Amino acid sequence: MSKALIVYGSTTGNTEGVADSIAKILEKNDVEAVIRDAADVTAEGLSSGYDVVLFGCSTWGDDEIELQDDFIPLYDDLENAGLKDKKVAVFGCGDSSYTYFCGAVDAIEEKAEKLGANLIVSSLKIDGDPDDGEVTEWSGQVLAKL
Ligand SMILES: Cc1cc2nc3c(=O)[nH]c(=O)nc-3n(C[C@H](O)[C@H](O)[C@H](O)COP(=O)(O)O)c2cc1C
Repeated sequence: MSKALIVYGSTTGNTEGVADSIAKILEKNDVEAVIRDAADVTAEGLSSGYDVVLFGCSTWGDDEIELQDDFIPLYDDLENAGLKDKKVAVFGCGDSSYTYFCGAVDAIEEKAEKLGANLIVSSLKIDGDPDDGEVTEWSGQVLAKL
């Protein structure tokens, strides 16, 4: 059985809800899914023991990209998360009326790639209220790569 870690940073609960939905879909497909709030994790050894790590983070800020507050310490220390050759995918909620739509998702993806992660699917960027259909579709893409 594959084991997935889902780490999310979410202020108003949107990205948290998406993390929960993804976990349910993975579990239905015989993937063990562990969900952690970014506020409760440290980077050190984070991905150890998992086949895939899914990072979820909303975007804040205005003229510049700001990651969701709880995710910032993890992002800053991502070097220690053991991502080299690890299967990784990134998702997050945002709003396309801002200059940097889901900029946090791009930033995490970029850093994970630099650290040698294996980005298994294109990121999921959710504009406004999460839609079950797009979450299900994306989760299916992730499942196909496990
Ligand atoms: C002050 C403020 C700044 C925001 N900045 C951005 C932004 O730069 N890019 C973006 O895509 N969304 C931006 N958003 C939208 C949030 O990311 C969006 O509401 C998201 O659903 C919040 O997810 P969360 O509940 O998981 O934290 C901003 C929202 C607020 C209130």
